[in-house]
Amino acid sequence: MARLRVGVLISGRGSNLQALIEATSDPAYPAEIALVVANQPDAGGLQRARSVGIRTEIINHRAFNAKQGFEASIDAALRGAKVELVCLAGFMRILTPWFVERWRDRLINIHPSLLPAFKGLDTHERVLATGARFTGCTVHFVRPDVDDGPIVVQAAVPVMPGDTPDTLSARVLGAEHHCYPLAVRLIAEGRVRLREERADIVGAPPPADVVMFNPPG
Ligand code: GRF
Repeated sequence: MARLRVGVLISGRGSNLQALIEATSDPAYPAEIALVVANQPDAGGLQRARSVGIRTEIINHRAFNAKQGFEASIDAALRGAKVELVCLAGFMRILTPWFVERWRDRLINIHPSLLPAFKGLDTHERVLATGARFTGCTVHFVRPDVDDGPIVVQAAVPVMPGDTPDTLSARVLGAEHHCYPLAVRLIAEGRVRLREERADIVGAPPPADVVMFNPPG
């Protein structure tokens, strides 16, 4: 069966991209990465993609006067590569409703909290400031409001005594690297059904060791 063609949008180091690269390197995985687009020319993730022969494009937002031209270029690159599903993986530009609606239900994001809690930036700092005992990560369909949209996969991650934003971020990132490939797999297998603004999983639920993330040690 044809594999789902995925486009990944990045701005930085690309560790979630790396998790997707590793998942897609298994020929039995139902998706492949057709294109990686970075808005930052020095995004570390570009090298990860190039080193395994994945096509990359730099579309620098600074080269455009308006968001519309920037997003139209990304859209054209994705369509040119026959992308069917777009994954935002640490992409640090807020997309306009034009782009979001153009890719409606074919555009997903990963956010390092248990949405709808802790939308936005500096997530781990804010989680620690509240004294919350659990946080996590969420893969969700993108809607025009930032960090909003039907949830595909979530993992709960414990907050440990003495955590700093860095230690907590590292633990959550470990969960992210399991959740993103799982979410793409479920979508590629046609097991995610959108009903109004809920995404239901058809068939076996996601594995417990992914959705309740056990920190190593
Ligand atoms: C991740 O924490 C992701 O949840 C957030 O941005 C970060 C990207 O990290 N949206 P990386 O570039 O994938 O390593």
